[in-house]
Amino acid sequence: MPRDLINAALKGLSRPATVIAVAPGRVNLIGEHIDYCDGFVMPFAIDRSIVIAAAKNGSSEAHLRSEGQPDAAIDLTLPQEIGEPHWANYVRGVIDGFQQLGYDIPGFEACFVSSVPGGAGLSSSAALECATATLLEGLLGISLSKKQKALLCQKAEHDFAQVPCGIMDQFASTFGEENRLVMIDCRSAEVTLVPFENPDLAVIIANTKVHHQLSDGAYAMRRQHTEEALKWLGKPSWRDVTLTDVKARWNDLGDPVNRRARHVVTEIARTQKAAHALAQNDFLLLGELMDASHDSLRDDFEVSCEELDIMVNLAREIGISGGVFGARMTGGGFGGSTVTLCKRECTDVIMTTMRRSYQQATGIVPEIFCSRPSRGAHLVD
Ligand code: GLA
Repeated sequence: MPRDLINAALKGLSRPATVIAVAPGRVNLIGEHIDYCDGFVMPFAIDRSIVIAAAKNGSSEAHLRSEGQPDAAIDLTLPQEIGEPHWANYVRGVIDGFQQLGYDIPGFEACFVSSVPGGAGLSSSAALECATATLLEGLLGISLSKKQKALLCQKAEHDFAQVPCGIMDQFASTFGEENRLVMIDCRSAEVTLVPFENPDLAVIIANTKVHHQLSDGAYAMRRQHTEEALKWLGKPSWRDVTLTDVKARWNDLGDPVNRRARHVVTEIARTQKAAHALAQNDFLLLGELMDASHDSLRDDFEVSCEELDIMVNLAREIGISGGVFGARMTGGGFGGSTVTLCKRECTDVIMTTMRRSYQQATGIVPEIFCSRPSRGAHLVD
């Protein structure tokens, strides 16, 4: 339980809190940019969260406070609209989702505190949405199903942050459990919690501290390419498309849409293989698949960037002799973080080397830490 965050959130309220909600960010091990293509993804909820402490204030307004951000006031009697300050739009979007379900939200005061780095590809926005939804459940004394809650939060991101994201982030933040990966079949929206508790394994997250673009069209453009490709291929779902199909229509699809299609098909296959490798404790194979995933994201999907490539290459140079199984970018890309699978006993040396070498290569001080699968969105008693 993130006690420091909870205490900080409690301190930010002018009255005693009656509800405390927590929701984590996520890291994705493999299965990138295929959640909106009916693919499989394998994220886990990290041990970094957003905490909201709140209490009803007897009014019909929500008063929101978050350190380092302008305060926000939201009139709960009106339909929600995108507005200022920007950070409160995620909250407005979730409030809108509850209002659409017919809930009458009482006025409240809330203080938000976060340990999920923003703009780092670790889904701080999904954490904010899922924490808000959990808070509203607490204030209303209701409970949505996890799936309904995650989909409501995804809609908030679509409508109020205007990012046409898939379902991975909100599902990971909602369904996360300690020591479990959240394997999602994005065609059926079915979740399987996969054990991930080998004491010899560790996951290193390296935030490059650069963020080039995402909501300004590059993400939406990738999604559009995949939709265009599927139409050309004439199949109902990416799950029905093979690499042979893509190669047969290579010239018709044209560049870069043909490479986008190749990424989708090969990444779906890699993720299925990765699930199998994990079940067999074959971490060497899992690492190779992660490496191949990065190469495909860099060359075919073109969502990596120089800093992500540098960070990934630094981990790869350490290699298996230094305890590294594999490394790749994680999340939407264009900056943000990498994920490295490694031997636990080697993590300190690996992190020190990556930190030093990345700084030497780029002049940027990265943020590098280990994380483990943690509990998803919940209320604190
Ligand atoms: C962002 C989106 C997710 C997913 C990833 C890429 O995090 O929110 O839905 O598409 O990018 O895998």
